[in-house]
Amino acid sequence: MRLSVIGCGYLGAVHAAAMASIGHEVVGIDVDEAKIAALRAGSAPFFEPGLSEILTSGVASGRLTFTTEMAAASGAAVHFLAVGTPQTTGGHAADLTFVNAAVEGLLPYLRPGDIVAGKSTVPVGTAARLAALIEPTGATLVWNPEFLREGWAVQDTVDPDRLVVGVTAGATDVVQTMKDVYHTAVAKGTPFIVTDYATAELVKVAANAFLATKISFINAMAEVAEVTGADVTQLADAIGFDQRIGRRFLGAGIGFGGGCLPKDIRAFTARAEELGRAESVGFLREVDAINLRRRDRAVQLVVGALDGVVFQKKVAVLGAAFKPHSDDIRDSPALEVASRLKGLGADVVVTDPQALENAARVHPQLTYEPSLDETLRGADVVVLVTEWDEYRRQLTPEHAGSLVAQRVVVDGRNSYDPALWRAAGWTYYGMGRP
Ligand code: UGA
Repeated sequence: MRLSVIGCGYLGAVHAAAMASIGHEVVGIDVDEAKIAALRAGSAPFFEPGLSEILTSGVASGRLTFTTEMAAASGAAVHFLAVGTPQTTGGHAADLTFVNAAVEGLLPYLRPGDIVAGKSTVPVGTAARLAALIEPTGATLVWNPEFLREGWAVQDTVDPDRLVVGVTAGATDVVQTMKDVYHTAVAKGTPFIVTDYATAELVKVAANAFLATKISFINAMAEVAEVTGADVTQLADAIGFDQRIGRRFLGAGIGFGGGCLPKDIRAFTARAEELGRAESVGFLREVDAINLRRRDRAVQLVVGALDGVVFQKKVAVLGAAFKPHSDDIRDSPALEVASRLKGLGADVVVTDPQALENAARVHPQLTYEPSLDETLRGADVVVLVTEWDEYRRQLTPEHAGSLVAQRVVVDGRNSYDPALWRAAGWTYYGMGRP
């Protein structure tokens, strides 16, 4: 099938390349010329495992092209909207400028029978509004939310755990076309949920709100553990054995960040207020507050570990990305902790296997060091904030101990075995652990 993908960021670039990898002829369209030039050359403009491979093979096969010209969307059977919906400046609502511009730009090229498939995360009610703009062209809008995780984006796109398509009543042909798009997943028996626009939009925000709530729940337990001497990691293991609860996303630590969970729960709260249902999702404000408090807690632990004297102490910060397997630093808890320590007068040195370039652009005040050993050398305290394998599994307390000035570690992701580090002479501080 011929497909167009409008917006070639984390979502769109992966979607375009993944759709080409399952046999479709795809054009990716974006207003950012530098991004398009990189993608055309088969190079991923951000770090995402497996993306370069499918980009290169897609471009080489001739089935995957990239352009800044919206006219190139002409002739595609399905047009995916994959532009960003960031948090508005100065507010909590989602900024729909890019979605509106993408639809307006696409309208002149739509033909009767075309499908426009919305993938961007939008406030409930957006699809119905956009459908009214699209329908006069004879094209049909479907809402097809995306659930990919950064770091696993290729796998999640090609082999998702469910597909959701929101349509207007009686759109059977349209549903079949969407099944043809995702033919490999459909052939595998992937759950394919056909629903209305509002449900499809809500499935996406509800899923992210639930995940954020799960993380803040365990972080709230960490706060209680801190005043009772309990261990939140053991608590999470123990409740996680209950299959109704499950252990995944019960990792206590410095909390969630990134371009999705924080802004999605805020946008959901803002939308619920507009709909007169503020009280229904009022708990998400608490989820947000708990999450942000964990960053304060990490800073406090570091200050405490240095006996309150931070000025000119060398703090080795392991991690800058909002999570491992990504170079994304949007709302990164790691960089917030680093910046706050820098603000207190510490000599902060940050290392990360992928995110240093992005971090340096946004936080030029911090010192960056690509080598882990150099970051650790002479450190008065080590702070683990992004649990890359390099820092979590491969770094031994003995090796780290041979480089630092003081064997003091603050484990912001509860990734280390405290017994092992203490046995090697380290003073260990975790998040919600004794
Ligand atoms: C999230 C969702 O997981 C995806 O399903 C969704 O498609 C995506 O947002 C989106 O809306 O586009 P992502 O932002 O890539 O994906 O990151 P997650 O893997 O969800 O992690 C989010 C944050 O939570 C990270 O900062 C991570 O470190 C933190 N986290 C995760 C914890 O603090 N504890 C945990 O147990 C798990």
